[in-house]
Amino acid sequence: MSNLINNYARNNIEFISGNGSYLTSIDGKKYLDFGSGISVTNLGHNHKDITDIIIAESSQLLHVSNLYLSTPQEELAESIVKESFAGKLFFCNSGAEANEAAIKLARLYGNKKYNGKKDKVLSFYDSFHGRTYATLSATAQEKIQNGFTPIAQYNRFVAFNDIDAVLDIVKNGDIVAIILELYQGESGILSVEPLFLKQIREICDKEDIILIFDEIQTGMGRTGEVFAYKHFGVEPDIMSMAKAMANGLPIGAIIAKDFVADLLTHGMHGTTFGGGSLITKVAKKVIEIISDKELLNDVIIKGELLKSIIEDKLNDRVTFHGKGLLIGAETRFAPTTVVSKCLENGLVVIPAGNNTVRLFPPLNISKEDILIGANLFIKSINELD
Ligand SMILES: Cc1ncc(COP(=O)(O)O)c(C=O)c1O
Repeated sequence: MSNLINNYARNNIEFISGNGSYLTSIDGKKYLDFGSGISVTNLGHNHKDITDIIIAESSQLLHVSNLYLSTPQEELAESIVKESFAGKLFFCNSGAEANEAAIKLARLYGNKKYNGKKDKVLSFYDSFHGRTYATLSATAQEKIQNGFTPIAQYNRFVAFNDIDAVLDIVKNGDIVAIILELYQGESGILSVEPLFLKQIREICDKEDIILIFDEIQTGMGRTGEVFAYKHFGVEPDIMSMAKAMANGLPIGAIIAKDFVADLLTHGMHGTTFGGGSLITKVAKKVIEIISDKELLNDVIIKGELLKSIIEDKLNDRVTFHGKGLLIGAETRFAPTTVVSKCLENGLVVIPAGNNTVRLFPPLNISKEDILIGANLFIKSINELD
């Protein structure tokens, strides 16, 4: 009998250590990690540079709060601006909290500039933006909202990649923000269409709508760019990030362009833990490592290699989605069935929607381990067939 709330369908394995691309379970079995904790440990386990910072900083200072100056926060903000666009950062503790800040900020813009007359947030079916009240309300999936209705009443939803539906809804003049993922991670790594994204940017410019990109799953090098929006050449006004920022320590953030960021003044928003010195020092090291051009280029090469080995053996029994090492592998089997079979064979993969599992190895995985993982995946699907 467990004393934990039963909100997770847990696999019957307990991992107790990790090194590089491998995990070890309590019974001593080794697993190749193609999950990275859902795109969090993007630099693998027990990364020396990261561990060194954690050890050094934990004996220096653990917490003082955001009531005081913080050079590590300033430096991390500077690094993120350098890898994205000019703007200002707010640090928090998770993806949901980052999106919550993005939504609040956009609504603040609407309230200040349009006296509350522009207050609706548009998001897309099959999206995922988090589990807090504002973010589950923006997550247009019944299974996420079920049991918690009524959702926040300012949300509007249309089909992903349907520009006519967007045009139809913005003509009411009350949409203040559009929030989207460039690849819908929870729904099978479904890509935004480049033309659709360009048109969305044009609509936002014309109608004075804040464009928010949720890069919580796609960010931090996973697609072969530090942030996935770079592949599309379209810039948001606010971008949220989290997951891999500190390779496993909890952190989230938004970057917002000045015209919207500057609306937040003292006391309007905050968090106790956000942006602590240990975590921001780790996150600065992570972004320094993953912004290396060679590493990013390798992410694309390794992604193509992984897909080509699998495709070669499984042919049309698998369809791939995504970019770089953000890979959705769609088969005819339920994701949980594929996950169980892969685990039996010593490969960790993560379920997503639409008969898809996520193949998210660490970005610095070796090509040999890509080969090993590809063969374990092939073996698993062959055993299921
Ligand atoms: C795209 C996206 N947005 C938001 C979230 C929520 O992040 P968190 O679980 O850190 O609150 C997730 C988490 O899976 C996500 O993938």
